[in-house]
Amino acid sequence: MPRDNMTSLVQKIARQAFITFKNPPAFGDKVFCENQSKLSSLLTEMRAAELQIAPRKVEGSPASVAHSPPVTYMHICETDAFSMGVFLLKNGTSIPLHDHPGMYGMVKVIYGKVRISSYDRVDKHSEAAGDPHFSPPVLPFQRDALRRSIRRSVGEYTDESSPCILSPQKHNLHQIDAVDGPTAFLDILAPPYDPDDGRDCHYYKVLTPVSEVVGKKPDSQEQRETWLLEIPQPSDFWCGGEPYPGPEVSL
Ligand SMILES: [Fe+2]
Repeated sequence: MPRDNMTSLVQKIARQAFITFKNPPAFGDKVFCENQSKLSSLLTEMRAAELQIAPRKVEGSPASVAHSPPVTYMHICETDAFSMGVFLLKNGTSIPLHDHPGMYGMVKVIYGKVRISSYDRVDKHSEAAGDPHFSPPVLPFQRDALRRSIRRSVGEYTDESSPCILSPQKHNLHQIDAVDGPTAFLDILAPPYDPDDGRDCHYYKVLTPVSEVVGKKPDSQEQRETWLLEIPQPSDFWCGGEPYPGPEVSL
């Protein structure tokens, strides 16, 4: 059998992710776009069985799971160029709205269904353009934590879907909700989070301007300007760890 047919899909994905992200990609770079497209095609084939992960069922009584983490992570591999692992979300849970500063990312559902709501940050220079009022009001000390953004898209993804892709400029902030039961997705981040290198994860809350509360019809378009408030990690969200059972990956 030719060697490539024996190579697991996750190993091929890791190798292609390394090729894609080993050099800091320039925006619009043709070679980078081609490599990213190859990576996306490989990811589209990925299913839970390839990683030897059995799709989880809805758990029993809520009391029995009250103290277990709503979300767990299986680490697969990490290099300076990218990290890869699997997030598993229990029924009814979410990964709250968060960012990936200066990073690329790819999310590929391997079982179940997720809803991904994504946002772009708007250039800091335009933050002085308005002085919005919110309900409930933002307190004076919170003003520095306000971030102007655009709601870019809301979409549902299953294991049949292509990966959802984010870049430093587009779809960089997102919230991921489990829909209709437990779900899991393979996650690639490039470069990995590194607080010492300016890539820490921040959490946000979507604010509602007073104009919408008092009845001004919100823009019906999918994409619209939104204000986000940077917040501490929500207390009902934390991520546990569990061992990765799938094929070994080496780079
Ligand atoms: Fe994320």
